[in-house]
Amino acid sequence: MYPLQRNRRLRTSAAIRDLVREHHLSPHDFIVPLFVVEGKNKKEAIPSMPGYFRYSMDGIIKQVKALWNLNIKAVLLFVKVEDAKKDNLGTEALRQEGLMQLTIGAIKEAVPEMVVMTDVALDPYSSYGHDGIVKEGKIDNDATVKILAEMALSHAAAGADVIAPSDMMDGRILSIRNTLESAGFVDTLIMSYSAKYASSFYGPFREALDSAPGFGDKKTYQMDFANRGEALTETLRDIEEGADLVMVKPGMAYLDILRDLKNTVNTPIAVYQVSGEYAMLKAAAEKGWLDHDAVMIEQLMSFKRAGATLIATYFAEEVVKNL
Ligand code: PBG
Repeated sequence: MYPLQRNRRLRTSAAIRDLVREHHLSPHDFIVPLFVVEGKNKKEAIPSMPGYFRYSMDGIIKQVKALWNLNIKAVLLFVKVEDAKKDNLGTEALRQEGLMQLTIGAIKEAVPEMVVMTDVALDPYSSYGHDGIVKEGKIDNDATVKILAEMALSHAAAGADVIAPSDMMDGRILSIRNTLESAGFVDTLIMSYSAKYASSFYGPFREALDSAPGFGDKKTYQMDFANRGEALTETLRDIEEGADLVMVKPGMAYLDILRDLKNTVNTPIAVYQVSGEYAMLKAAAEKGWLDHDAVMIEQLMSFKRAGATLIATYFAEEVVKNL
């Protein structure tokens, strides 16, 4: 009761504020998404993601070394596939000499301790731009799950540490887990995009990978952003099916979901601050409307406060240089 309690006492000086701060950011919090393209010496700008690039494998290796030197421990790989290699079967996704598989191997050779996480979903490989196999205008869940499990196995065989299915098919975690176990990959982790919403914040990413859906949208597999309880149903199921890490995606508009999960499960939770979130801040800062670094740190801290253990973000390198 005032004046016995004056809450402002705990804010009197920077030193006191440092002492009582509840949450902190460290390089170990971050997962860095990396976009890989075929070829050599390529560094391609992504117009809607200023300051972010697609690299050919040589550039990716340099990037991974630089990130490791910043004490960052995890990268999450996405590949951009040429149109000629896209089909409705995931053929290129399964090729052991595919761009993803070769990149995994090259990173593990160059920086063996870097934790290599790999995106598992068909959209970059799909002639329809969907995360699954299309049959008669619909996404065939069970046919897709079979391919995803094979895809996960090929990533594990190439040396991936963490398989990250981002497709939202039912039963894929169980199927991937069983496939990995039977093949002897008992230590390969699965990070499930367990609560992934059908979001318009993914726009710039789809531009980066040329992976926008050719027809319709992703609402029959990604979650309705009006729903909250469903995130728990999805996440609890994925943990039962064998996920080691779970995820909420997107980030900023979904902090309630993050906190719900944190209050309910003990599994480490990742949050994905997606491409549209990155683009918004870059655009506002370019106009001089927001203080880029201050807002970046405030947003990232909000994920920690809401309950995230890990944060996938395009700001990772910048923020770590800022800490
Ligand atoms: C595709 C995938 C998407 C993202 C990660 N994996 C896009 C989508 O679901 O359409 C989005 C990432 C971002 O926007 O930064 N499986």
